[in-house]
Order: sequence, then structure tokens, then C-alpha cells
Amino acid sequence: MQSTSSKTATALYLIKEDMALVDQLTNDRLNTSVPLVGDVCQYIITAGGKRLRPALLLLMSGAVNYTHPHRIQLAAVVEFIHTATLLHDDVVDESTLRRGRATANSTFGNPASVLVGDFLYSRAFQMMVECGEMRVLSLLAEATNVIAEGEVLQLMNMHDPSLDQAGYLRVIRSKTAKLFEASCRIPAVMAGLPPDIEEACAKYGQALGTAFQVIDDVLDYDGEAAELGKNLGDDLREGKTTLPLIIAMQRANNAQRAVIQEAITQGGVDRLGDILTIVRETGAMVATRETAMEEARSALDYLNPLEDSPFKNGLAELAQELINRKT
Ligand code: IPE
Ligand code: IPE
Ligand code: MG
Ligand code: MG
Repeated sequence: MQSTSSKTATALYLIKEDMALVDQLTNDRLNTSVPLVGDVCQYIITAGGKRLRPALLLLMSGAVNYTHPHRIQLAAVVEFIHTATLLHDDVVDESTLRRGRATANSTFGNPASVLVGDFLYSRAFQMMVECGEMRVLSLLAEATNVIAEGEVLQLMNMHDPSLDQAGYLRVIRSKTAKLFEASCRIPAVMAGLPPDIEEACAKYGQALGTAFQVIDDVLDYDGEAAELGKNLGDDLREGKTTLPLIIAMQRANNAQRAVIQEAITQGGVDRLGDILTIVRETGAMVATRETAMEEARSALDYLNPLEDSPFKNGLAELAQELINRKT
């Protein structure tokens, strides 16, 4: 199995050994007597991936001094949940490239992707039960439920150019930020910290996850497929109203706005080049990045109540690096 990628975060050196244990445990817990389950899991997991959510859980564990071995198991759990959402997401989004290789749905078909996604979700739940902490079970049950709601909400918003920033934020806080939030709240719960500190840890994760998805939506227009390991233009092809388009529509002239509205309504990438030009010329790309930076800054503020430590510094570095990421 490929070891933890350090493409994104220098802070990962702090948790290098823990992450190796997470990789090992992940491998061990993919055991199944059904060959296709193992094949699909191996296929997506060995493709790499940034392992951000387990990294966050482990950095936060360090920051709140949660040292129990269960932290490794819980870190694997959040990556399993994430991987399950990716298997399902690529089916829903009809995506063909993920982590630099053909998506599982392209390789094994939609039914295998959906069903193995279910396997990973349920394996994650078996593993969290083993940790025996009812509050963690409850918050991960809630998180997976909210992620599913976010994905369905987004489905309802497809091809709707009138979606505003508040509607967009509601979707991304659910589909993406919720798992970041849970990953940061878990160590605080396990360490038995007071509610205000637990809340600060969770808010850090929520703000970071929001910034992360905003940047993801920028990179869908303004990234490099080779670095990203995903195709650009997927959002437009699906008629997804993301923040670069929302801000561009606010700032565009009537003719430009009509181009964006039509592209969202119709879907497809025929006008991707024109739209990219409009998004750049209206300053919407810069403004979207600024929104992500504001979220990242608020993430930093939420770290204030934590005691100073290399782990806290690592969490702060991560917030900065996720904004500047290209992968
Ligand atoms: C992809 O997440 C899905 C989003 C929330 C944008 P990541 O970018 O963390 O995916 P991997 O695990 O590194 O492939
Ligand atoms: C990712 O959504 C969120 C979840 C997987 C729940 P996206 O569809 O925006 O992410 P990518 O671009 O495919 O990674
Ligand atoms: Mg997708
Ligand atoms: Mg999606």
C-alpha cells in the first residue's frame, strides 16, 4: 500500500508513524471473502489520496493530548467513510478520473462502486463500534447522514443558476466540511475536553473543510488535471452552480451572465473556455480564493483556545497549505 502522501502538508511529519499504522490497519481491515470487494477497495485505496481526514484526526489528537491507541482506528474509520463517499460520488458525478487513474466506476462499473461503497461505510461502522464510545458513534452516524443530505441537496440544485452563496455554502458544509468537523471533534470527545474546547476543535474542522471544498471548486476550473488527478470541468459538465460561477454571475454584464446561466441550465463543457475567461475577467476566481482564505483564517482563530504545541502549529500550517494546494 502506498504510504501517506506528503504532497499537501508539511505537518504530516509529526504523525508519520501514526499514519503508517493507519495504512497498515486499513489494509488489515479490508479483509473479505468476496474477491470483487477486495479488488475495488485495493484499487481506490492504493491509488493514494491525501489521507487528509485521518491526518487531521491525528494532528488534533496530538493537540489535545489524546494518546489512546483507538486514535489509529478512528483515523482509519474517517478515511473509510471518505473513500465510500468518493466511490458513490464518482458514480453520481459520472466522473472518469480520480487519484490519477480511471475511476472505480469506469473500471468496475457503477453497481460494483455503489455496493463496495456500502461495504466501506458498514466496515467503518463495525470499526467505530469496537472503540466503544457512544458519543463518537453518535457523531459519526450524524456526520454520514448529513453528508448524504448534502449530496442530495446538491442533486436538487443541479442546473439551477439562481443558487446563491448561502445555498452553496449549505451544500458544502454538509457534503464536505461535516467529515472534517467530525475528524476534529472526535479527539476532543475522546479526551473528555470541556464543551467549549470541543466546539472550537469542531469549528476549526468545519472552517477548514469549507475552505477545502471552495478551493476544490476553484481547481475544477483553474487547476491542472495532471496534478489534481481529476478532470477539470466536471462541475460545469454536470450543471453544478459552484462559487466561482455564483460570484461571476453577480459581477458579469448581461451577455456574460447569459452565457453562464445557459451553461448551468444545459450542462456540458462546450463553453468551458468562454466561462473560464468570464470567471477570470470578472475577478470571480480571485474573489472565490479570497472566500476560502477567510474560512481558513477563521479556522486559525478557532485554534486559539488550544495549548501551544507542535501539533497546534501543524494544524495552523495545514490551513495555509490547503489554500495554496494544487492537488
Ligand atoms: C475529494 O477529497 C472530495 C472533496 C471533498 C473535494 P480529497 O481531495 O481529500 O480526496 P483524496 O482522498 O485526496 O483523493
Ligand atoms: C465531494 O464532492 C464531496 C463528497 C465526496 C461527499 P465533489 O463531487 O465536489 O468532489 P470531487 O471533485 O468529485 O472530488
Ligand atoms: Mg465529484
Ligand atoms: Mg459530487
